[in-house]
Amino acid sequence: MSHAILAALGLAETNSGTYLGDGEWSSTTDAGTLAPANPATGEAIARVHASSAADYETIVRRAQEAFKVWRATPAPRRGEAVRLCGEALRRHKDALGSLVALEMGKIKPEGDGEVQEMIDIADFAVGQSRMLYGYTMHSERPGHRMYEQWHPLGLVGIISAFNFPVAVWSWNAFLAAVCGDVCIWKPSPKTPLSAVATMKICNEALKAGGFPDIFFLFNDAGTELSQNFVDDRRIPLISFTGSTRVGRLVGERVARRMGRSLLELGGNNAIILDESADLKLAIPAIVFGAVGTAGQRCTTTRRLFVHESIVDDVTQKLVAAYKQVEGKIGDPTDPKTLMGPLNSPEAVQAYLAAIEQARAAGGKVLTGGAALADRKGNFVLPTIVAGLDNGHEVVQTETFAPILYVMPFKTLDEAIAMQNAVPQGLSSAIFTQDLKAAEQYLSAAGSDCGIANVNIGTSGAEIGGAFGGEKETGGGRESGSTAWQAYMRRQTNTINYSDALPLAQGIKFDL
Ligand code: UN1
Repeated sequence: MSHAILAALGLAETNSGTYLGDGEWSSTTDAGTLAPANPATGEAIARVHASSAADYETIVRRAQEAFKVWRATPAPRRGEAVRLCGEALRRHKDALGSLVALEMGKIKPEGDGEVQEMIDIADFAVGQSRMLYGYTMHSERPGHRMYEQWHPLGLVGIISAFNFPVAVWSWNAFLAAVCGDVCIWKPSPKTPLSAVATMKICNEALKAGGFPDIFFLFNDAGTELSQNFVDDRRIPLISFTGSTRVGRLVGERVARRMGRSLLELGGNNAIILDESADLKLAIPAIVFGAVGTAGQRCTTTRRLFVHESIVDDVTQKLVAAYKQVEGKIGDPTDPKTLMGPLNSPEAVQAYLAAIEQARAAGGKVLTGGAALADRKGNFVLPTIVAGLDNGHEVVQTETFAPILYVMPFKTLDEAIAMQNAVPQGLSSAIFTQDLKAAEQYLSAAGSDCGIANVNIGTSGAEIGGAFGGEKETGGGRESGSTAWQAYMRRQTNTINYSDALPLAQGIKFDL
């Protein structure tokens, strides 16, 4: 099974993890090896050779050369390059979606959905390539014109996480590419095969279309290369997706060299159900949000605030739904499976530790609360915990696992205050049929998150909107809306077409 998936994507038992450009994959074999394990069985899938310091230097040098050509290529032509990548991804959607399921552990429809997000952002970026708009301004001086233009930024470094092993790269890379930038990707060491496969698909499509190399890849067996990457002054933007702990280090280090960082860090996302909530919508949204991707999305629903008048009914319905999911835990590549394993044994340990901490604090496990120790792989039960305060440390922490904390409330003010009282600020949602409640929730005094939804859940955002969050989520925005601007430098231009040289602010400086 896994052989067929690898073969369909041109992967072997052992692969280079370094794309050097000029059609060349590095022959380095002595910089360490990554051997991602199938999270459903614990067995190694295939091996990827990590990159050497010399490989990294070659990549940066070639990327700098490529940038000189790429920044002078008309933006709509750059869009054509991304269109070809989108087309190639359409052709490989089934195989790449399967590889993501195999290597990351998310279920096949979610693996395919992730590849669909890549296709969607490719389409979006193609259109955006003709819309890199700047404002024009009216000058205060006669015979003058002002406008702004957006220029390519340079080399863009992308560090992605295991949970979206391919889509995160594309949200950054496809926009950066139409913006005239050249991208260097350092994927998660847990999912290097998905990254190698993605590079093959996109770079072969670029080559067939007669385009230069604009997408480079390196893998790091330790952290030294990645740290140099973050500190590298030749790379004006580092886009990092991952934990708040590492993201803070990345942000600080990039700031120290006055670079730009785009941070997509942890979430601690909540759903509020008021008295009027339509439970036919709310229950499936909560289950998908909390259990989907086995709780390993940054947008996963982790906290649920329910009006006290309906809390018993809601928890009963949720427990019943969770029992149904329990019967469909298994191999993520099997179409009948609803919930796959966690990505790693360490994630299972973190899940168990959080549940123990919750129990010790008086939390009541309503369903789940255990790992499936009788089978191979990193399987756990989806879990609901009641009886803890929002302020408790375990509730305040993003544990990357399917644990949902349920808390009752009396007034909407109180629910919104609790929702916002966490360090993170990514995604949020309210289920209500009350217009006033919905508007209050979306107002300046409502949700403090980067994403706030009404009558849909916290996860599964579309690429058309700007994606990201506030506070310890890092403030970055990717994908749609004006997120493209992060990959360009803005230049303000004032042009004098008169015969005089009036100064702004009315200043006289007569010689
Ligand atoms: C992530 O988990 O890093 O909104 C991103 C969602 C997806 C993106 C998740 N579109 O759930």
